[in-house]
Amino acid sequence: MSFIDSHLAPASRKSGQIKLHSPQEFEAMRRVGRLAGEALDMLIPMVKPGVTTQALDEVIYEFSLARGAYPAPLDYRGYRKSICTSVNHVVCHGVPDHKPLREGDIVNIDVTFILDGWHGDASRMFAVGEIPRKAQRLIDVTYESLLRGIAAVKPGATTGDIGAAIQQYAESERCSVVRDFCGHGLGRVFHDEPNILHYGVKGQGVELRPGMFFTIEPMINLGKPQVKVLSDGWTAVTRDRSLSAQFEHSIGVTETGVEIFTSSPQGRDNPSSAN
Ligand code: MF3
Ligand code: CO
Ligand code: CO
Repeated sequence: MSFIDSHLAPASRKSGQIKLHSPQEFEAMRRVGRLAGEALDMLIPMVKPGVTTQALDEVIYEFSLARGAYPAPLDYRGYRKSICTSVNHVVCHGVPDHKPLREGDIVNIDVTFILDGWHGDASRMFAVGEIPRKAQRLIDVTYESLLRGIAAVKPGATTGDIGAAIQQYAESERCSVVRDFCGHGLGRVFHDEPNILHYGVKGQGVELRPGMFFTIEPMINLGKPQVKVLSDGWTAVTRDRSLSAQFEHSIGVTETGVEIFTSSPQGRDNPSSAN
């Protein structure tokens, strides 16, 4: 996810001008998106009690290079790892480390690859062994929030329609939507216009047009929506230490609706559920 400061967008791009992509560029996004889907599928059997997030980071680094891709987070704005691993009350941008995952943890693993100059950005929640019922409920609410956001995407709809769909559903399930991070345009750049807020009002925001590429990546909390960033400058946690979950897909707006670039080739988009 990107910070809601629009200075992440390249200075060369005039605000309000969102790139519309060609069929060839859709094909490039399918290739990098599939790589992200495959990488997350590969991690499913590896996320177990005792494994370190550092080990998962190394697996993705090696996978990237073996597939002729590059892990976009590595050396991005001073970040030093290939993936983000956000455990339990970590909302996003958790930094892989040598601490083993424990039975009952939930972890978001966020991968972004650059392949032939194109970015594919996706994340899923993984359960470490058996997890508490309330954690599974949060994961399933968050996954459904992503699906409802994606379902709002079609030409003529707005970014506000996406946010409203997510917010209405998540809050109806007594969960809260994180405001401080959002989805983002992507393609040849990692974080571009438009910002995709995961809350909002139907009809407001930017009108969607065929050829737009962006992520939707709601962060949903069991408690309050407020977050703080730890002194490492990256790790964002819930202020009330409540559990947080996130799923992310990279998508393109088509003439008729939406194409998801980062789907799981194995049909395991929500791997802790029997989906
Ligand atoms: N993949 C994250 C996103 O969804 C961004 C991570 S940037 C990093 O936008 F530097 F923290 F890796
Ligand atoms: Co993203
Ligand atoms: Co991401």
